[in-house]
Amino acid sequence: MLITGASSGIGEALAVELARLGARVGLFARRADRLKRLAARIEHDGGSALVLPGDVAIRQDVHRAVEQMVAHWRTVDVLIANAGRGMHGAAETDAEAVRHVYSVNFLGAVNALEAVLPWMRRQGRGHVAAISSGTALLPRLAASPTYASSKMAMGRYFEGLGRELRAEGIFVTVVYPGFVRTEMTSGHKWMPFALEPDEAAFLIRRGIERGRRRVIFPRRTLWLGRIAQLAPLKVQLAGRRRYSGTPRKSP
Ligand SMILES: NC(=O)c1ccc[n+]([C@@H]2O[C@H](COP(=O)([O-])OP(=O)(O)OC[C@H]3O[C@@H](n4cnc5c(N)ncnc54)[C@H](OP(=O)(O)O)[C@@H]3O)[C@@H](O)[C@H]2O)c1
Repeated sequence: MLITGASSGIGEALAVELARLGARVGLFARRADRLKRLAARIEHDGGSALVLPGDVAIRQDVHRAVEQMVAHWRTVDVLIANAGRGMHGAAETDAEAVRHVYSVNFLGAVNALEAVLPWMRRQGRGHVAAISSGTALLPRLAASPTYASSKMAMGRYFEGLGRELRAEGIFVTVVYPGFVRTEMTSGHKWMPFALEPDEAAFLIRRGIERGRRRVIFPRRTLWLGRIAQLAPLKVQLAGRRRYSGTPRKSP
């Protein structure tokens, strides 16, 4: 199983949760030191993990990681495309910054899919879970346009592709989380119904096991978002400023 963005937050919690249940986890992210510590923890608890440092925006990095996994375990049957980054403020209209968010959040997931797909096709089975965001389901909400649109693209792409890949025995789940307390949201002041990473990991794992096409949690955050979409734009923008607080420096 390949997990991108495994060095912190939801990805790290998923690696722990899935390794505990016997999955062999390939841990992919840029911070190798964090991945090494996580792999040591998993192995100490009796699991099996492989440290795969790399940048998801670089196609060759992801391909190399998958080759390493296959050399080690002969197969890759599950992909969790989780690596992602946020976006704040003035950078929203900086084309280079927007391109980078897309190259991680959307194209990074496509890079990972491209790398695992030949192996899944060869086996005639596989499962891909794409971690989008609840904001992708709320098109009229004043969220970060760059982040929200990258996650909408991800949702449409993986949901669409899921219908085609099904015929080849490859199942796709798209996950739309609400707020989760992680490094990405550490600067945010107001996060209604926020979950801890291990709670999110449990819900994602359960959704994958149940073969859900869509996993949305917590549902009440989505309902709150739907109501917030009805508020005047002025009020929404004031809420967005309150939500964002002091933005964390982007990686
Ligand atoms: N937290 C929330 O409220 C929330 C809500 C909805 C959706 N999500 C989504 O959940 C996913 C995980 O986010 P999180 O909340 O767990 O945040 P996080 O703790 O900041 O984790 C982000 C992960 O992505 C990795 N990453 C970032 N850029 C990368 C790159 N270029 N190449 C490889 N890995 C990269 C980071 O590792 P390195 O820095 O080591 O590379 C890290 O492991 C993201 O896709 C996010 O959009 C989060």
